[in-house]
Amino acid sequence: MAKAKSVFFCQTCGYESSKWMGQCPGCREWNTFVEETVVSGNVGKKKAAIGKIEEPTLLSKVSSETSVRISTGIEEFDRVLGGGIVHGSMVLVGGDPGIGKSTLLLQMCLLLASKNHKVLYISGEESLQQIKIRADRLGTFEGDLLMLCETDLEIIQEVIERNKPELVVIDSIQTMCKGDVSTAPGSVSQVRESTGVFMKIAKTLGITVFIVGHVTKEGVVAGPRVLEHMVDTVLYFEGERHAVYRILRSVKNRFGSTNEIGVFEMGQKGLSEVLNPSQYLLDGRPEGASGSVVACLMEGTRPVMVEVQALVCRTNFNMARRTAAGMDYNRVNLLMAVIEKRLGMSLANWDAYVNIAGGMKLNAPALDLAVIAAVISSYKDLPMDDSTVFFGEVGLAGEVRGVSMAAQCVQEAKKLGFKRCILPKVNASSIHVSGIEVIGISDLHGLIKVLSPKNN
Ligand code: TYD
Ligand code: MG
Repeated sequence: MAKAKSVFFCQTCGYESSKWMGQCPGCREWNTFVEETVVSGNVGKKKAAIGKIEEPTLLSKVSSETSVRISTGIEEFDRVLGGGIVHGSMVLVGGDPGIGKSTLLLQMCLLLASKNHKVLYISGEESLQQIKIRADRLGTFEGDLLMLCETDLEIIQEVIERNKPELVVIDSIQTMCKGDVSTAPGSVSQVRESTGVFMKIAKTLGITVFIVGHVTKEGVVAGPRVLEHMVDTVLYFEGERHAVYRILRSVKNRFGSTNEIGVFEMGQKGLSEVLNPSQYLLDGRPEGASGSVVACLMEGTRPVMVEVQALVCRTNFNMARRTAAGMDYNRVNLLMAVIEKRLGMSLANWDAYVNIAGGMKLNAPALDLAVIAAVISSYKDLPMDDSTVFFGEVGLAGEVRGVSMAAQCVQEAKKLGFKRCILPKVNASSIHVSGIEVIGISDLHGLIKVLSPKNN
């Protein structure tokens, strides 16, 4: 017998509770609980037909065919996926509304279709005409794409089973609705149930499924953090709405490394790849300005160079203001405390604003040294040499600690024409790159020495 019961769900993280609560114990958000009716019991649970009962299999007998990857035709996208699309996997693409998720996936579908892959694009948001207009904007492609505008899961399931495409795109999961779930599309139970259905399709029929999920203003895919652990790969498409570039970031990947990024530029003809993000992120760097420092760090498997900016000025209030854009606010406070204590600079009456130019969000410890150099440079109003790169982790004792893959960062700096690298001493000894000066420092006093005007 199916029983309907009333449950409360947190719309942010999917926490389930039998009663309403003001604050969610899961994610600490306020006022996010909404009542939903859940039908439990043996609904939808069909006994497997005799003879079809699954038996355990020996690991040695399992084929590793799933490791065969299909290229999306977009190099940056392939990199974020860990080298291409894994057959039968399930990928969630999250992002703010209007950031370009539909554009990216439609572009991928068109490229795949032109290579004779059978692709089905299901939209619950736009009409066929709207998608056609967008596709025309993206250019002309050979091959054809299967399209469906539908939100009813039963119909979608039937269409997929009948057509057996290699890849299905669901745009978006928040519009999908399953008949026997009584709540509105986009609610936690609907999103969870719908994802379950697609997961079954992906795993039993061996179809790759891409799911689009909109992010709410809290920065979590609406309702479904539930969704993140159900899928194989979670990608986020980020960027400033008004800027042209977009960053595709992998935060979970069962088939590749995380923290990998792909950089795109939104133009008149859809998204184009930015193959050298360092060059791109350093564009427009001020010359001879104090507080501007270049850092190099690893994002996934690739070194990326960014400009760290700091503005330190006298405060007009009793309490100094500190802000951090693009990096962790607490980390900035911590590094400023290290400067005060270890270098004896009094920053108590100074406001500090730290910014990673280009809108990137970074949290690698390798950024510490550059942040400290930028703060000191702005505080002393001492412009840094334009051709110097800084990277290294800074500990609470003011020591400069080693980072991983330092040699790659030095190579990248050399490639972009930098002349000098200031990095942890432990890394410096193992780096043999000609054409660039490598200076190893072991603590912040070492940094001050290299920054002094006669060396700078
Ligand atoms: P879209 O893919 O619809 O976003 P999402 O699916 O994430 O909600 O992106 C829409 C935005 O992209 C819209 O503001 C218009 C812009 N855009 C371009 O600038 N150039 C283009 O070629 C296309 C197709 C869209
Ligand atoms: Mg869309």
